[in-house]
Amino acid sequence: MNELNDTGSPAEGSQGHDIARHQPSRRSFLRTSLAASLATLGVTGAGSAFAELTSTDGATRLAADGSPRRTVIIDCDPGQDDAIAILFALGAHDQIDLKALTTVGGNVPLNLTERNARIVRDWADKTQTLPVYAGCPKPLMRELITAANVHGRSGLDGVTLHEPRGPLEKQHAVTYLIDTLRAAAPGSVTLVGIGPLTNIATALTAAPEGAKALREIVIMGGAWYQRGNITPAAEFNIYVDPEAASIVLGAGVPVTVVPRDVSVKAPITPERIVPLRALKNRCGPIVADIMAAEVAYQKGRIGVESAPMYDPCTVAYLIDPTMFGGRRVNVAVETTGLLTLGETVVDWNGRSKRPANAMWLTDVDADRFYDTLLARISRLP
Ligand code: BDR
Ligand code: CA
Repeated sequence: MNELNDTGSPAEGSQGHDIARHQPSRRSFLRTSLAASLATLGVTGAGSAFAELTSTDGATRLAADGSPRRTVIIDCDPGQDDAIAILFALGAHDQIDLKALTTVGGNVPLNLTERNARIVRDWADKTQTLPVYAGCPKPLMRELITAANVHGRSGLDGVTLHEPRGPLEKQHAVTYLIDTLRAAAPGSVTLVGIGPLTNIATALTAAPEGAKALREIVIMGGAWYQRGNITPAAEFNIYVDPEAASIVLGAGVPVTVVPRDVSVKAPITPERIVPLRALKNRCGPIVADIMAAEVAYQKGRIGVESAPMYDPCTVAYLIDPTMFGGRRVNVAVETTGLLTLGETVVDWNGRSKRPANAMWLTDVDADRFYDTLLARISRLP
């Protein structure tokens, strides 16, 4: 996926990978810029007072949390692997009650991510029952950088796309998130963030009281033992909107991070695509085609027939956290570094004395992951 971004030419429709241009002129613009965005949405009184979580060291292998079904919203930028993640979640309907897709500018511009989300729900026959909301078209303080060089101009290279059969919701994704969290019972909603975190950060800043409704935010983003995929230091989702990532990690809600460290341990290979392609439903071959396009891309780039498995790992974590290992640590985002913008700085050894603010996943049982993916995709139309 964004393996290419570090060496590829600037993506179509993007501002290119000019790090200097991606810097804010002043850090204090963040609050001003965010307030302006919120005012546009008719949201006032934004604050940012979030409690820090207490530091504890977690077990290396995660335990099942025992709950039968999670209420989930996926905030996404489809995006090839986002599409697989959405289908994966829909195939796990016994465990995941997917309420909505909220979309953000990321892999491709917002007009395409919201369109692609509506196409993906059609594939799963969810046109009428899974609402799609469009959110922020660009990061909080920066111009949008896309990964269209990886995902294709449409954002969904590898598959034939139809005209979406259902409309986009009229409400802005951020106001949907705010309204939903305000109305939800404490600890009842899981947000899955698999694109730049602009929508989620904006919602949490505008309505910090909504944070109490969150059971967990699970994000795909960052890298520590593995390095970046858009710059040597940064992973794409965090790099595109580092201020948003910093806000989410500082929001005082339980955050689980699925970084590149995990994604590269569950690589997509031609062998792992075969059983998905053999499924007799519609969605199996679609997922296989997307995965094949991801592998082909990496083959063209570095001559290797495998690709990291990114966004779907977040859904696997919801379905069965016991297939992952990780530890609670402090994670901070570099928002000013000239060469390290968007780096996720993981305090693995407790040097900073900053309290833990996230569960950082490091390991995955890849065979269990692919067995789980196959089983859930096989349930779809
Ligand atoms: C992340 O970047 C995007 O291109 C993918 O969809 C994934 O969310 C991987 O770095
Ligand atoms: Ca994504």
